[in-house]
Amino acid sequence: MTTIAILGAGKIGEAMLAGLLAAGRAPESLLFTERYPERVVELTARYGVRGVETDEAAATADVLIVAVKPQDIDPLLHSLSWSIKPGTLVVSLCAGLPTALYERHLPAGTPVVRVMPNTPILVGEAMSAISAGSHAQPEHLQLVEDLLSTVGKVVRVPEAQQDAVTALSGSGPAYFFYLVEAMIDAGILLGLPRSVSTELIIQSAVGAARMLRETGEHPVALREAVTSPGGTTIAAIRELENHAVRAALLSAIEAAAVRSAELGKAHNGA
Ligand SMILES: NC(=O)c1ccc[n+]([C@@H]2O[C@H](COP(=O)([O-])OP(=O)(O)OC[C@H]3O[C@@H](n4cnc5c(N)ncnc54)[C@H](OP(=O)(O)O)[C@@H]3O)[C@@H](O)[C@H]2O)c1
Repeated sequence: MTTIAILGAGKIGEAMLAGLLAAGRAPESLLFTERYPERVVELTARYGVRGVETDEAAATADVLIVAVKPQDIDPLLHSLSWSIKPGTLVVSLCAGLPTALYERHLPAGTPVVRVMPNTPILVGEAMSAISAGSHAQPEHLQLVEDLLSTVGKVVRVPEAQQDAVTALSGSGPAYFFYLVEAMIDAGILLGLPRSVSTELIIQSAVGAARMLRETGEHPVALREAVTSPGGTTIAAIRELENHAVRAALLSAIEAAAVRSAELGKAHNGA
């Protein structure tokens, strides 16, 4: 059976570990690394998975899932550069780190797949976009797609589109949280208790999201269905248009992509 090691079992790494186990993967086929012994003990007690040193993970595993913060990547790549087994698949969950960075530091021919997940991975509802590095083959992409499907949905994109993905689904949950926060405030403005306003908006968000996913209808069709002539919804939509909310979203997401590209440049020459 394929052995998978998660390097850096913080928030994202732990969610990956939990997702793989929930999908039926045997604990003996998983390993993880962590910096602090207390965290190793905690995770082993919770999941029955063994915590090991990076060298052992690199020498044993067939797949290494890198989930450290981007600023911690250099020492990790240094130790992997001499300890990794030939042919090991490296899967990077690190925002903004190009596959070329790994390829420069790891033995020639190492297959690398870059992933941009998002925080709903913590509840098994991630949106992950995956891109092949120059040595990753279709079977590597398929394996990564299967692994990430245990914690949400997966799309394949060329690596050049990862800045757009970062801006759209990477940061996307934050835009929805922002919108929900503003709508809860609107309820307060109208005199509703905060708890009631919060419940109304969160359930409306969940309901709207499920309708989008489960009906397969275009968002315009779903909105038109609740926009009756001379009614309440169209009165609200006129205000959204007056305040150029659509244009603001286009500019906001474009700004996020520009920023992602700027941050990525720091690693491109590294
Ligand atoms: N959170 C998000 O929304 C999100 C979304 C998409 C992608 N990502 C990416 O996912 C990665 C992980 O993010 P996170 O939020 O899960 O961060 P995190 O909670 O800080 O997890 C990283 C973990 O790795 C450990 N670590 C660092 N260097 C290590 C090493 N050499 N060996 C073993 N363990 C090591 C850290 O230990 P210490 O606590 O000692 O530092 C920490 O527990 C990042 O690269 C991020 O870009 C995150």
